[in-house]
Amino acid sequence: MKKEDILNFLDKKLDGDYAYDMGYILGSMCTEPLDFGKEVYTKYLHKNLGDPGLFKATADLENELIADIGELLNGKNIIGTFTTGGSEANIVAMRLARKSRPEIKDPEIVVPASAHMSFEKGADLMGVKVRKANLKEDFELNLEHFESLINKNTCGIVGIAGTTSLGLVDPIVKMAKIIDDKDIFFHVDAAFGGFVLPFLEKLGHEILPWDFRVKQVCSITSDPHKMGLGIIPSGGFFVRDASILEHAGFEIPYLAGGGFKHLHIVGTRPGGTVIAFWAIMNFLGIEGYKKIVKQCMDNTYYLAKRISEIKGVKLAADPVMNVLGITTESGRSVCEMDNEFRKKHWMLGKFMDLNLIRVVIMPHVTREHLSDFCVDLENIVKNLKLT
Ligand SMILES: Cc1ncc(COP(=O)(O)O)c(C=O)c1O
Repeated sequence: MKKEDILNFLDKKLDGDYAYDMGYILGSMCTEPLDFGKEVYTKYLHKNLGDPGLFKATADLENELIADIGELLNGKNIIGTFTTGGSEANIVAMRLARKSRPEIKDPEIVVPASAHMSFEKGADLMGVKVRKANLKEDFELNLEHFESLINKNTCGIVGIAGTTSLGLVDPIVKMAKIIDDKDIFFHVDAAFGGFVLPFLEKLGHEILPWDFRVKQVCSITSDPHKMGLGIIPSGGFFVRDASILEHAGFEIPYLAGGGFKHLHIVGTRPGGTVIAFWAIMNFLGIEGYKKIVKQCMDNTYYLAKRISEIKGVKLAADPVMNVLGITTESGRSVCEMDNEFRKKHWMLGKFMDLNLIRVVIMPHVTREHLSDFCVDLENIVKNLKLT
């Protein structure tokens, strides 16, 4: 085929995808990467960090970037790596937890019921048992139940800073106290919150410590491809100190660039996304991110207010970050509501276990999109007789 024909075909074919700027994507934690990042990525997309000896300068840049993001997470000399996303970072964390206690025959990790599915994936891959602590009525973690699940087989615990369903932050300090005298790996999943919470704090929001300020926290997931506006896929895994990684890497002796220890699930991995994110972070800076997070929060409060004015539905919880849950006042299932929204092309998250519809107010979501959404919400509530 001729190049021109191929490009025309692709344009037509891919027109079937949703685009962020259409306004309908209200249920995704990813967004349009920053244009400047795309530009830089295209220039460097051939770099392979699976063989870092060949791309030493890119590997240096990654380490520099990890340390910079580590500072944002209130750590010093933080090490770590880019990953394909939050799932890979969480699975790597689980593996470190398991490795840290080789004497445990039937290892377990304790997670809140709101934990992301990646911990189940990791458990399945590694033969680790996941024990899930209940949430309370208000969707916060039930700490007593969490503590009761910790036993001699517990090699790791997980706290979440920005839950997938509601963007809530677990009581990390209290969880840390529970394991203070125990040899248990503490991982914080801030895949979404990692590029929101630091800027919310700088904007004056009161957020309890959840990051490397809490000395028991061993590692953190924080994803550039969510609120960092990085290229998809760009995940991030951050570790407090090098000793944690000592026994964890897989030696790859035959690499052209020289022997290297792999921590990742993947072998070949992109350097272009890392370089692009270095550019994005340096371009936006703290002030740039603060502006983006503030705009998302302003839109979140706008939507929260509009929802509170519609009889028949309510917010599942007060928003901490730019994630909102909508549920029915009567307790009726949100499934019909979700179906009606889909007929009108709205793409939302449906959480059956919590009976809520999730809206993520990402940078691509405008006030106008939200206003249109609320008109449809009002009509759907009326038609379904939810009032
Ligand atoms: C809290 C949390 N952790 C992990 C993940 C997984 O991230 P990814 O889809 O990048 O693998 C998500 C995804 O939404 C998430 O919300």
